[in-house]
Amino acid sequence: MAYIEFRDVKKVYKTGSVDLFALNGADFIIEKGELCIIVGQSGAGKTTLLNIMGGMDRLSSGQVFLDGREISALKENDLALYRRNDVGFVFQFYNLIPNLTAYENIEMASQLVKEPMDCEKLLRDVGLTERKNNFPSQLSGGEQQRIAIARAIAKNPKLLLCDEPTGALDYQTGKAVLKLLQDLSLKNGMTVVIITHNTALTAMADRVIRLKNGVVSSNVVNPNPVSIDLIEW
Ligand SMILES: Nc1ncnc2c1ncn2[C@@H]1O[C@H](COP(=O)(O)OP(=O)(O)O)[C@@H](O)[C@H]1O
Ligand SMILES: [Mg+2]
Repeated sequence: MAYIEFRDVKKVYKTGSVDLFALNGADFIIEKGELCIIVGQSGAGKTTLLNIMGGMDRLSSGQVFLDGREISALKENDLALYRRNDVGFVFQFYNLIPNLTAYENIEMASQLVKEPMDCEKLLRDVGLTERKNNFPSQLSGGEQQRIAIARAIAKNPKLLLCDEPTGALDYQTGKAVLKLLQDLSLKNGMTVVIITHNTALTAMADRVIRLKNGVVSSNVVNPNPVSIDLIEW
């Protein structure tokens, strides 16, 4: 069995009399330690898929497995523990807590779990030791996103899920954030899933999943992923 498996996953939204299938039989696998990029047009179901993978949303039918465990069968309590212990989330607009410093944002996440990462080291890894005592409003977008990534991995999660993590960043800053995500996969063996609009980024991934109208149209392993430093768009 693969590390992550989606089996015939459907997600239906009832809008008035019409059923909208955000996911309409999504099937795919992702292996442990891979950097996986999910691409697809707006409305293809990418966010829905990531939210289901992260236990933030429930499917209508089908099955989802992570590390041999059926996530889709968990009761509310166990799903909350799954979210808390196993999943790190990075959002487009960072979602840092405004009245906590950079360090405190990371520390708060680390306090949720039994075996957190060292917060000082995380700050160093994202290159922001000097900004430790700054509040989010005192940081640039790229710096805020690097703090958000440090916060997401402070729990030492099994899975790092990123929904358009560079969507609000300029070119160079976006590249630095992607470099950090690629390093996490390469050096720490973390399983990282990134949603993006930018098809140029697929060259950096170990696996590329294309989503179209709620189904997976292709799932391709890339034998020679390229360093983000070598990708231009
Ligand atoms: N809470 C919701 N209620 C109704 N429709 C939704 C809801 N969330 C998403 N959708 C619809 O499901 C489809 C897939 O959405 P989404 O997963 O956000 O796509 P993507 O992230 O690829 O842009 C879209 O048509 C969207 O309008
Ligand atoms: Mg989306």
